[in-house]
Amino acid sequence: MDEEYDVIVLGTGLKECVLSCLLSMNGRKVLHMDRNKYYGGENASLTLSELYEKFGLKAEDVPESFGRQKDWNVDLIPKFFMANGKLVKLLIHSGVTKFFEFKSVDGSYVYKKGYNIHKVPADGQEALATSLMGFFEKRRYRNFLNDVAAFEIGNPKTYNGIDPNTTTMQDLYRKYGLDDNTADFTGHALALHRDDSYKQENVLDTIERIQLYDSSQKHYGKSPYLYPLYGLGKLPEGFARLSAIYGGTHMLDKRIDAIEYDDNGEVCGVTSEGETFKCKTVVCDPTYGRDKVKKVAQVVRAICIMTHPIPRTNDNASCQIIIPQNQVSRKSDIYVSCVSSTHCIATYGFYVATVSTTVETDNPEAELQPGLDLLGPIEQKFVYVADIYVPIDDGKKSKVFVTTSYDATTHFETTCNDILDVWTRMTGEVFEFNKIQTSEEN
Ligand SMILES: *[C@@H]1O[C@H](CO)[C@@H](O)[C@H](O)[C@H]1NC(C)=O
Ligand SMILES: *[C@@H]1O[C@H](CO)[C@@H](O)[C@H](O)[C@H]1NC(C)=O
Repeated sequence: MDEEYDVIVLGTGLKECVLSCLLSMNGRKVLHMDRNKYYGGENASLTLSELYEKFGLKAEDVPESFGRQKDWNVDLIPKFFMANGKLVKLLIHSGVTKFFEFKSVDGSYVYKKGYNIHKVPADGQEALATSLMGFFEKRRYRNFLNDVAAFEIGNPKTYNGIDPNTTTMQDLYRKYGLDDNTADFTGHALALHRDDSYKQENVLDTIERIQLYDSSQKHYGKSPYLYPLYGLGKLPEGFARLSAIYGGTHMLDKRIDAIEYDDNGEVCGVTSEGETFKCKTVVCDPTYGRDKVKKVAQVVRAICIMTHPIPRTNDNASCQIIIPQNQVSRKSDIYVSCVSSTHCIATYGFYVATVSTTVETDNPEAELQPGLDLLGPIEQKFVYVADIYVPIDDGKKSKVFVTTSYDATTHFETTCNDILDVWTRMTGEVFEFNKIQTSEEN
């Protein structure tokens, strides 16, 4: 084969499909391959019998009461979209939204030690109404959220006496007299930080994150989150189809033998089923670049099939609950998500909740208990532990750019950061949303 591709993408998880689509749209000649017969890799949605078989059971083990197979689309790694987040911007800009319908998630909750779960207050008004905190703390929190909402980067008049260049989040919490619990809810359930290192950092990033949450919620008024009807599994294929419109070539069910390098250690091709395809760069998920990644952590997930919504959520048919690490004396947050027939992922009357966290002990399932305790009776539970791989280098020398494994979060913010990070490593440029040309504009 004399043809040379600009980029060969290996693996059809959501990250790889978004990247292959963006690269095609930007005029790169892309070849995209997967060893599986289907799109999506770990992001594929499963029918009930596929789910049972994945966990060592038989299709016959699915109870008849669980209804029709075709009503089920269970995601192994469910994640919600922030309505105003970057990934939704990418979806809208690329035009891929034509292939899907999104529906808002009914509720967003945070866990408080000894007080169970509460709706996450996103603005001053909700702060006053919340039962998460006492009378005086609520008023202080309202002031904090109002000032954060009014903050405009670049307009010192809105800074309210803080110097954003030198103020840390810890300083800001102190300035408003907020206690450690309020800081937990803010940092973990609103700003979606995964640890507390942000407290020592400059306020700007966290202010932007809180504003994103607030504006996303204002979009629909229920929660800031969206989830596609029929699950996430159709998204990778949608991006692949769009990439094909821009000239990308896609091949499924291809055995990948090797990534080939030249004498300088720079990638020059990919060999599949004995045939070598030439290329300048490779983008792949960690399973295709084993020698380019290292294991840094593990995540444990429990997929739980239920016949009722999560208790104390006002019968919300879909929701996210974040359990901040400090509230349960852990080093990592526990995430709970729930979706149901209203998002067309289960038979009417059924709910699928997923509880996940980063593994800290040698009994991972026990670490999920604070999340499982919130769910009420569970009909069927599947627990699994997955390794988290990250690339060992930035890929600039070998020109092999590897994505990271999916973390424990039940939202897409970190996924999107990884996509944009790979883009920057590859192209040397920060991704500019307004530069994407859609087919309509062309
Ligand atoms: C913060 O730093 C930027 C440059 O890094 C400067 O332009 C700006 O004036 C500084 N802001 C304040 C409030 O000192
Ligand atoms: C979801 O729960 C909230 C309270 O947490 C409630 O106000 C809202 O009506 C519920 N929405 C649905 C659709 O059940």
